Amino acid sequence: CGIVGYLGSRPAAPILLEGLHRLEYRGYDSAGIALPHRGRLRVTKAAVRVAELRALVGEDQPAVVGIGHTRWATHGEPNDANAHPHTDATGRVAVVHNGIIENAGQLRARLAATGVEFVSDTDTEALAHLIAARLAEEQGSLEDAVRSTLREVEGAYGIVVLDARNPGELVVARNGSPIVLGIGDGEMFIASDLAALVRHTQRVVYLDDGELATLRADDYRTSTLQARRTDKTPTEVELTEADYGLDGFADYMRKEIGDQPEAMRRALLGRLDSRFSTAHLGGLRLDPRELRSIRRVKFLGCGSAYYAGQIGANLVEELARLPADAEPASEFRYRDPVVDPETLYVAVSQSGETADTLAAVQELTRKGGRVIGAVNVVGSAIARECGSGVFLHAGPEVSVASTKAVTNMSTCFAMLALLLGRVRDLSVADGRRIVAALDALPRRVEEVFETEEVVADAARRFAGARHMFFVGRVRGWPVAREGAQKLKEISYVHAEAYQAGELKHGPIALIDSGMPSVVIVPDDELLVKNIGTMEQIKARGGPVIAVTNATLPEGLADAELRVPRTEPELDPILFGIPLQLLAYHLATELGRDIDKPRNLAKSVTVE
Ligand code: G6P
Repeated sequence: CGIVGYLGSRPAAPILLEGLHRLEYRGYDSAGIALPHRGRLRVTKAAVRVAELRALVGEDQPAVVGIGHTRWATHGEPNDANAHPHTDATGRVAVVHNGIIENAGQLRARLAATGVEFVSDTDTEALAHLIAARLAEEQGSLEDAVRSTLREVEGAYGIVVLDARNPGELVVARNGSPIVLGIGDGEMFIASDLAALVRHTQRVVYLDDGELATLRADDYRTSTLQARRTDKTPTEVELTEADYGLDGFADYMRKEIGDQPEAMRRALLGRLDSRFSTAHLGGLRLDPRELRSIRRVKFLGCGSAYYAGQIGANLVEELARLPADAEPASEFRYRDPVVDPETLYVAVSQSGETADTLAAVQELTRKGGRVIGAVNVVGSAIARECGSGVFLHAGPEVSVASTKAVTNMSTCFAMLALLLGRVRDLSVADGRRIVAALDALPRRVEEVFETEEVVADAARRFAGARHMFFVGRVRGWPVAREGAQKLKEISYVHAEAYQAGELKHGPIALIDSGMPSVVIVPDDELLVKNIGTMEQIKARGGPVIAVTNATLPEGLADAELRVPRTEPELDPILFGIPLQLLAYHLATELGRDIDKPRNLAKSVTVE
């Protein structure tokens, strides 16, 4: 979900709507804003996209303060009533909220017993009633009412509260769900994400968990839930509006696919050491002795970050000869994992906010595990919780389907594997080979783009398929998984990834002329095996789309997506790129909403 707030001297509505538009990638089930008007609230909210909300809000809104929200549904279906902001029965207090209130059931029951009638199914509505009741009872400040309400609340939240009778102030609070204040000149901005702020100001204050702030147009005050002052000085962010632009592209996904060579150069910058044939990852804060004490590496992440972790695990096994694996963070956090002091845990996340990954990190730190982050967003919860790690430097990623962040994840893991290898048995010669190949990799990505027309043509030819297999083995297996994930996410075509060798043990029963298989075929020691897999598919009448840098037998593949050569260990990084393009062009062919795939959101800050 996304949160915005404004307090200043300009009309608030256009600023809020523009901010919501910037945050729409975080949820687009419904949207709404609340403005004060003569001591009462004017709330406009509906299960619509921000563009439609704009029409509902209308032009004539003089309020110079307001709050807004764009929602990814958790409690209650995405209808008008469940859209935020939520208000109390008197129409005085409005609240926008990200996160989940865990004791909402109890709070709602208690309020219902005092005669409160709920108009939504949300956990957030209870907050509005509670805050309004406190304000009425105690005649105190909004800040006091919010503080005492939050002391009773269990769960995660980022909230902004507006009191229509006191429109010169907004109160915000954070516990587990990000809130950033943007400090302007005689005006204040609030957002759950920098994307909505950088157009107005580069001076920001990040709230910490358990922190609360009261804002006026020309000043702000931060404190803890226990009312202890926390004097925070603003920091300057380097991002500007241009970093969030579309650069003339039709959608963010295609723009970000194109960003990859530059993004990869940023990830590599200053980290490759050709003198000693290794990598420098200063953010790990591990000296060679500590690096040598690591006996195992485990990558934890969700969705695409998990698949990138699997590529990372393969790289660590290959280059460092250390046992390594990847596991979905959502599983790890709940299965009472055995935490091994000799294992290096790597928390992988573009946003640095994914609730499941954050919880896995917290579980690890509680149990004394050694955990580093591989995170894109600097200052995010996972980055802060880990305290050390490797930043991905992919730049802001807006498309829900991750591309450049995923590519930079595996690029960073190649450097981590190289570093771990070079303090062990990886030879200088092999180190040199990998350093040179990594250095040249951004150029290789550009070469993939030269084949885009071929990929787009294959996408058009196979756009009628209802199901697709993605098949790969060993290095190609996580590539196949991520390729299938990308296709599912944005085209809604059912895609299943399979290890090439397992295909014949069951799923091959599904192969017929209507079931194309995308086969990952690197020119490595398993080439003959992968050719065998393609022959098995062809023999059953299944169309084959080969993604390959090898010379294949004439006529074997129905379409060939060519990948440039790099060192075999790094193939998985490059092979992912044509699969992004394939998903993109197939979804475009089907007329899908590329940047806002149904039911999804960019960062999932709830369980
Ligand atoms: C969500 C997104 C996925 C993403 C995953 C992990 O489910 O829809 O595309 O891979 O979260 O996100 P993270 O920010 O932790 O990398």
